[in-house]
Amino acid sequence: MNATQALTIALSKGRILDETLPLLERAGVVPLEDPAKTRKLILETTRADVNIVVVRATDVPTYVQHGAAALGVAGKDVLMEHGAAGLYEPLDLGIARCRLMLAGRPEHRPGEERLRIATKFVNIAQRYFAAQGRQVEIIKLYGSMELAPLVGLADYIVDLVDTGNTLKANGLAPLELIADISSRLVVNKAAMKMQHARIQQLIEALRPAVAPAP
Ligand code: ADP
Ligand code: PRP
Ligand code: MG
Repeated sequence: MNATQALTIALSKGRILDETLPLLERAGVVPLEDPAKTRKLILETTRADVNIVVVRATDVPTYVQHGAAALGVAGKDVLMEHGAAGLYEPLDLGIARCRLMLAGRPEHRPGEERLRIATKFVNIAQRYFAAQGRQVEIIKLYGSMELAPLVGLADYIVDLVDTGNTLKANGLAPLELIADISSRLVVNKAAMKMQHARIQQLIEALRPAVAPAP
């Protein structure tokens, strides 16, 4: 990475892209093509020195950690699960707010065996229960976690909750708050040193666009 190379920002399709683009716009960065329409994964922007790459939400920390993108936007859940090695987290963007929760059927009475917890957040769940000295078996899923307690795959789930509609629609209730979640700007540590002025300028341009915490 050198000082003349364009800065690349890794974003994921869906709510992070939708909620980050207005913030970037206020910082003068607008993609030249509509990310919702194009099949391109590298998007040039109105700033010749800034590109956007579109990746899976869980891959954002990987791209930024390896310097393939100098910056990225990722949910705190994804960062907690992935680990923060090689990353700075200079700005809470206050977008994609939700809660990471333990949830289950309100009437469920688990047996004597180890609790079975279905989740895609295996590291977070391991840490959460280990810190409380609770023995659990983690069952890794990639989505539709809410189904697991309904079909007897797990006693409880660890998943994201916003309105609570998904839990409710499946007869589940939120039980324990694990973490309040919002999306963060992450920066590659080496890039932060080598391209400090440009990255700092972008952070400062984004800062006033960020809504204050509720
Ligand atoms: P994925 O395809 O990985 O589920 P999402 O766009 O749904 O990607 O989620 C990206 C991030 O948005 C998550 O890491 C989380 O921080 C946040 N998020 C997920 N679900 C919700 C929700 N229902 N409401 C608000 N924020 C959410
Ligand atoms: C997320 C999350 C929950 C749901 C919670 O899913 O995994 O299922 O939102 O939101 P709620 O409390 O407002 O119902 P998402 O909409 O991202 O779907 P996904 O399975 O494609 O990730
Ligand atoms: Mg999702």
